[in-house]
Amino acid sequence: MQEIIITGASRGFGRHVALKLAKPGRCLHLISRSESADTASQVIERGAEAKTWSIDLSRSAEIEKSFSPVLDAIDTKEAGFIGLINNAGTLNPVGPLGKYDTNEYRAHLELNYVSPAVLAHLFVKRFQKLPVTKRVLFIGSGASQRPIHGWSHYCSSKAGVDMLAKTIALEQDSMDHKVETAVFNPGRIETDMQELLRTLDKEDFPLVDDFIASAKDGRNLPPGQVAEKMVLLFTADNFPHGEITGR
Ligand SMILES: NC(=O)c1ccc[n+]([C@@H]2O[C@H](COP(=O)([O-])OP(=O)(O)OC[C@H]3O[C@@H](n4cnc5c(N)ncnc54)[C@H](OP(=O)(O)O)[C@@H]3O)[C@@H](O)[C@H]2O)c1
Repeated sequence: MQEIIITGASRGFGRHVALKLAKPGRCLHLISRSESADTASQVIERGAEAKTWSIDLSRSAEIEKSFSPVLDAIDTKEAGFIGLINNAGTLNPVGPLGKYDTNEYRAHLELNYVSPAVLAHLFVKRFQKLPVTKRVLFIGSGASQRPIHGWSHYCSSKAGVDMLAKTIALEQDSMDHKVETAVFNPGRIETDMQELLRTLDKEDFPLVDDFIASAKDGRNLPPGQVAEKMVLLFTADNFPHGEITGR
């Protein structure tokens, strides 16, 4: 059995990843604030098992308590492959530092950086000694490599995730039963996140016209197409351990 946890599986990229992963012999653990019920029923139709978990990953102080039952639900006696795909993320609130609502700002950092870090930590802590294939994939962004006006929290949390993955990979290289880890940058994909970007004020986000043009010109790829590539990479024998990779 392959047991795979996916955060942000209710819609957008994470939902497509779940649908591409759905096949017999896999149990998918779908996490988001909402129940992911629609994703789960389609996963089951495709022959996989699905368990849904309603967790707000921006409440990092509660993550250990809310994530432990997910880890407990993994049947370690039967599993030959255990995975975690840290996909849930947000762009909200967009604008220059100093302008944000402080609680929204904190929630952004907790969802985009603290939760993937803590989930990876809890995953490694629980499964390190298991002699099976174990993988943690972080969904990154090109924004980790360049500053974008209005996105200081997004750029920096994604840059943090890149370094987190590289450092975990370095540590895991000396372990007996290593957890493989990597970052996958999907590029621009047509989801709610892109839709939101196009509605933003130029003052908060001066690149808004570029993002509007990108959607018009067909430069934003369909999420299902990119999810297919990501799933191939995630399940391949030669996983790109320690790498920042993309579509
Ligand atoms: N779209 C792009 O062009 C693009 C480009 C580069 C990288 N990415 C990255 O790709 C990943 C997925 O993005 P997307 O475009 O699919 O975003 P999306 O369409 O906005 O979907 C976000 C997902 O995350 C979940 N989520 C949001 N807040 C949450 C919270 N507090 N706790 C738990 N789950 C939460 C949402 O479910 P609920 O609302 O039900 O909680 C939803 O399933 C993100 O990491 C993003 O940074 C996207």
